[in-house]
Amino acid sequence: MHNIAIDGPAGAGKSTIAKIAAKKLGFIYVDTGAMYRAMALYFIRNKINGKDEAAISGACGKIDISIEYQNGEQVVLLNGENVNAFIRTEQVSMMTSDISKYAVVRSKLLDIQRNLADTKDVIMDGRDIGTCVLPNADTKIYLTASTSERARRRYKEQTKRGISCDIEQIKRDIAARDEQDMNREIAPLKQAEDAVLVDSSNLTIDEAVDAVINIYKKGANGC
Ligand code: DC
Repeated sequence: MHNIAIDGPAGAGKSTIAKIAAKKLGFIYVDTGAMYRAMALYFIRNKINGKDEAAISGACGKIDISIEYQNGEQVVLLNGENVNAFIRTEQVSMMTSDISKYAVVRSKLLDIQRNLADTKDVIMDGRDIGTCVLPNADTKIYLTASTSERARRRYKEQTKRGISCDIEQIKRDIAARDEQDMNREIAPLKQAEDAVLVDSSNLTIDEAVDAVINIYKKGANGC
């Protein structure tokens, strides 16, 4: 099996770029953030405090996360329910960043992610794919962009969806999530030693997709 790991901060364009690259290469795209988001949704719905590790641990046994593909799109199932439509709110984003620091949450999803990569050619994106989930991936990419560019993209996306928002608030939320994701004890967001850095701040989507595909085709060491 061939595996491409893409890590990076929120809003760097990981999912957009990985999705297109996966289609071009005939790989399956695995969005691991969506799995963490589905767990966060469970805690929100059940009024479990994201800062209460004991309560989170207690509830984890009641949560079943699985993924399926419908017309090539990843669908995340939370206890059998398709929750794709509910996991992209700011409330879920912040809860996800809170709860993804707990070992009990991470270990639950690790097996699912490794199993997928063992059985299929995947492009998997997240925060710890190259460093932790798939340390032997064929290609590792750390995809980033400046905070202001990431905020600008998020603002554009939300406005297009008809959601009114404040770009300065988006910037603060992105910075808060980065801070939390990069500084947690378990599997923090960081560039793997053997990952190739791609800064998408000044790249179009097509250019970033080409960069990912070229890195994969060349091999991470350029051979
Ligand atoms: O990629 P995303 O924005 O959907 O991720 C949401 C949150 O999930 C992010 O703040 C950190 C967490 N996450 C993680 O800890 N590990 C991953 N492999 C993917 C996401």
